[in-house]
Amino acid sequence: MHFTSPVLTAGLALGAARVAASDIPPPPLPEPIDVIEIPLPPVAPSTEQGACTPLLNPRGTGCIRKDRDKFQAGDFTPDGNHVVVNVDFVGAPASPDPASIYAGEQLILVKVDGTTFANGDSWKCLTCAVPPENALGLDPRTDYPHAFRSGTKALWGHNIIDCGSVPLDKCDPENTHIYPIHWPTTADGSGPGGLARELRLHPDDVHMGFNAFTDVGGQNTFLARLEFNPDPATGEPQVPRYDLVDVNLLLQLNGKPPIEVVGDELQVHRDAITVGELRGFSGSGDEIIYIGMPWESTNIDLMAVHVTTGAIRRLTSHPEYVDPAAVSHDDEWVIAMDTRGSDRQMWMSGMRWIPPMIDILAVSAAASTRNNGPRRFFQPILIDKYGDRGDYFGQQVNAAGDGSDGSVNDPNWNGLADPAFSPDSTRIVYYQGLVVAPSCGGDNPLPCPESTAQGGREYRLMVANLTSRQPKAPAPVYPVPDAIPWATPFPPGASAPQQFVFQPGEFTLAGRVSGSASVNFTEDASIPGAIGSVSVAYSDFCDEEGYVINGAEEFSRELDLSNPWNQVVHWFSDLTQTGSVEATKKTGPGGFHLQIDVMTNIFNASGTLTTTIDDVVYKQPANGT
Ligand SMILES: *[C@@H]1O[C@H](CO)[C@@H](O)[C@H](O)[C@H]1NC(C)=O
Ligand SMILES: *[C@@H]1O[C@H](CO)[C@@H](O)[C@H](O)[C@H]1NC(C)=O
Ligand SMILES: *[C@@H]1O[C@H](CO)[C@@H](O)[C@H](O)[C@H]1NC(C)=O
Repeated sequence: MHFTSPVLTAGLALGAARVAASDIPPPPLPEPIDVIEIPLPPVAPSTEQGACTPLLNPRGTGCIRKDRDKFQAGDFTPDGNHVVVNVDFVGAPASPDPASIYAGEQLILVKVDGTTFANGDSWKCLTCAVPPENALGLDPRTDYPHAFRSGTKALWGHNIIDCGSVPLDKCDPENTHIYPIHWPTTADGSGPGGLARELRLHPDDVHMGFNAFTDVGGQNTFLARLEFNPDPATGEPQVPRYDLVDVNLLLQLNGKPPIEVVGDELQVHRDAITVGELRGFSGSGDEIIYIGMPWESTNIDLMAVHVTTGAIRRLTSHPEYVDPAAVSHDDEWVIAMDTRGSDRQMWMSGMRWIPPMIDILAVSAAASTRNNGPRRFFQPILIDKYGDRGDYFGQQVNAAGDGSDGSVNDPNWNGLADPAFSPDSTRIVYYQGLVVAPSCGGDNPLPCPESTAQGGREYRLMVANLTSRQPKAPAPVYPVPDAIPWATPFPPGASAPQQFVFQPGEFTLAGRVSGSASVNFTEDASIPGAIGSVSVAYSDFCDEEGYVINGAEEFSRELDLSNPWNQVVHWFSDLTQTGSVEATKKTGPGGFHLQIDVMTNIFNASGTLTTTIDDVVYKQPANGT
């Protein structure tokens, strides 16, 4: 999910750091892709002790839960033959049965080359039976697993699994150490440290990117260095651990804001750095991949910012919503989880090249409509490094199939975070969850499908083979400076400044091509200094050749001071677009009103907002769907 910021021209990624706009090649042709499902440990019928019987797993090496809770796939080991996966083992017998160690959340390696480990299993638990003295201060957060490029370590949520000099697939529990990650945030280093979330390791195996919520419904993003601290004097837990040091807040103090007031004019700075949510790094690690302030209204995209120069590229521009993503190790390709093709968001974002004015209030609500609670609408989309451009919107990796229950392109199986490339850039691993109640069944018009996966499992691990490709060497790893030149040092004890404060007033926004818009930012009556509503009137406004906008829009947000994640918004829209397309974006009588909690994403609207593009009508989802 995410929260802040946006911009550029012609749907082209600029790539100032890597490539001039004139050097951007034509888009690639679609390529052949084979997708297979990867076996996982057997499913236990319940979580009761002993439910994982010898009949289900004769080798006594564990069973996993049927529902998706806690499952998360990560990426490939350097040999490309294994993937790290966080599972929840359930139904283990009581100790001293040797099978009792296959219990709870554990990191496993899964073979993806059709072979097995010596015992005949296609998986191996890395963290089961690690002696407690080797896992002091284990952090229970074990999400976003990731293999180090070295092959001897893995990131397991807020822990690092260390096999010394031994590759993970050869590692024994006795030789495995698990160290928690600690982010000192107090000046004297005391306390449990900061609440980092969604840790993404840099390809140098040393730097770490992460996000952290603010307590007012926002988020900050950071890049830091991992430093082993064998004997910490302060901070919790006081055990051998990795500290996050040389922390950079990924905010350019006094940098260009995404929208700037200059006299009575507004200027949109598409090259402003607005790292709303960090998503990872390029294959070489020269760029930070993130979700930023949109360049087009309510159209959430992936952006990249160069670690050193701060140069921005827009990687996606499709009106649908994008979120988890990864870049191939050779830097040539992006794999993104995107709602494109599902038409989930088109009612809101389908009209192109509306400038991001209401977005200073609308981004969180707009992003939150992408899911229906736990139901995602993501499919994996392969895009070349230059990003969406012209009519090119990448290639759906799992498009080949008959769409039947359980097929690779069954729309009821939806992508989750994170996808990853094999080190030679010829394969992609991703996982999917099946829609389950209450996102289907009951009052919901979508019937609940039967799982076709083993044991009725409600998640599945998939590998896509890009069969026409030759293995490519990874790009050389980019040396990251400890102090990011454009970012803000964030030592222990620092507090984050407020990002991008907008002033109330009446302004004019000139179209990049022609025309103009008059824009009012109005203060929230109950919260002095905060903008509560934005209204925009367009006169032949044109930001992009062929997309001329007329009409008006007004958007307001009620802040819920008891729950900053709860958004109640009111939207009035009557826009028309002419030129390359004939489009309208209109609310029904009385406007469109949406209540949505950013943390749960249950659509609850009254009134309608409808986008029509060349006679194709896109309507909002029904409440609760
Ligand atoms: C991917 O497909 C190619 C072409 O069919 C094949 O030669 C190769 O072995 C496949 N790779 C894997 C890991 O299955
Ligand atoms: C902005 O506010 C002024 C003064 O209230 C009003 O005259 C104008 O119509 C408003 N413009 C828009 C775009 O709502
Ligand atoms: C839907 O939103 C309305 C208006 O904010 C609110 O009164 C109602 O409780 C919400 N319904 C649900 C099910 O959350």
